Amino acid sequence: MQHRRPNGTHRNYDPLNGLVFARSQAEFVWDVEGNKYVDMIGGYSACNLGHGHPRLIEAACQQLNKLTWAHGGESLERQTLENALACLWDQDRHRLASEPSKTKVWLTLSGARAIEIAWKIAYANKPGAAVRFDLAYHGRSLATAYLSDTERSGALGPTDPLNAPSTIPFPRHPHGACGPILADGSAHRLCKECLGCLQEARSVFAKKESILSMLFIEPAIGARGYYFAPASFMQQLVELARSYGLTIISDEIQMGLRRTGPMFAGRAQGWEADIVVLGKSLGGGIAPIAAVIADSRWIDSLGPGIESETFAAYPLACRIAIETLEILQDKKLPEEIERKGRAFRNQLRTQLAPEITVDGVGLASCISLENLPLSGIKQAYAIVKSLATQGVLVHLTGPMRNRIALIPSLLISDPSLEDSAKKIIQAFG
Ligand SMILES: Cc1ncc(COP(=O)(O)O)c(C=O)c1O
Repeated sequence: MQHRRPNGTHRNYDPLNGLVFARSQAEFVWDVEGNKYVDMIGGYSACNLGHGHPRLIEAACQQLNKLTWAHGGESLERQTLENALACLWDQDRHRLASEPSKTKVWLTLSGARAIEIAWKIAYANKPGAAVRFDLAYHGRSLATAYLSDTERSGALGPTDPLNAPSTIPFPRHPHGACGPILADGSAHRLCKECLGCLQEARSVFAKKESILSMLFIEPAIGARGYYFAPASFMQQLVELARSYGLTIISDEIQMGLRRTGPMFAGRAQGWEADIVVLGKSLGGGIAPIAAVIADSRWIDSLGPGIESETFAAYPLACRIAIETLEILQDKKLPEEIERKGRAFRNQLRTQLAPEITVDGVGLASCISLENLPLSGIKQAYAIVKSLATQGVLVHLTGPMRNRIALIPSLLISDPSLEDSAKKIIQAFG
């Protein structure tokens, strides 16, 4: 079949370029030639429940026969989802019983749009510039490109210097994070690199205090290379940012919804965001949907008519998201994610050479080859390619493309996970 594709949509930098997929089920995908793969990419966390979860398919089919689009987005499905997300966010928050919840939810279509809405909300409360990590990825729309470490996607060139986002460093930890990534109640001393990053953040906040408004945080770095920092680093950074009056926006589009184990990763690290953003797997890997969650004091600062999208909060996506949240709330799931992730990383750590770093939390894992000769760049590319021939899809990532992200379905079976680990170890020779 001849196909004409815009040049810019080709992924010729990706070792998996050229694979064409035909079918998917649970943790597996099949290409058009019938080859079967364990999918350890999972739509970059869009498929936290794997592919074609029967409950999601059933919900989607029922909804297709019921209501697919509603004027102004108003539907029972939308209201139910907004309530479900607000309750979820409120669930474990300390709140006086007499104080009713004021949490509200703004639904939209994509992660980038949700980040833009969170940006507008924070700006409406306090006009000023954003701060982001040097390893940030918050989308590639015309606006979010400037919040991401991918300026070349921002077609407009440099932004107005007063509103241009400032950058603070995220620790790289070439030998793995220096402490627990989720808060475990233990006191932990930060490494020299973490302390240096905090020092740098303090100097950016202090120097630009009069023009800064908000801080965008990913609880762990996703798309820019799957880097992890200890919970105590994140706590201290948030505390510091608050002391300079910054609004805290937690981008949990990739690391929320149980990718790291808990529903909300930032909170599980022991810090509280003013505004939290979910996306990707909220739509069960089937429908595009994202959400901005915050107290009404924030959300209501955007008046009617400021934001709209034809398909925002369309009933089909809402119905799938409601079912997704229900499945994710299975009480046994967090423990299972923790157990599987720990066993998987231990299997890799004990059998890979010591200069290869295996880091992660929950079912977000990463193998770094940066300590190998020539930063392991060629080797990382070759390993990703060879694993595909062995039936395991993994994701080449990082600013130097020498990191391998492993983000399987949260429901992946033990045999699939163990078998993939064995193949990864073999691929390293
Ligand atoms: C952390 C994070 N924020 C925002 C986005 C943008 O989401 P979308 O691609 O749905 O616009 C992504 C996408 O990878 C992401 O990983």
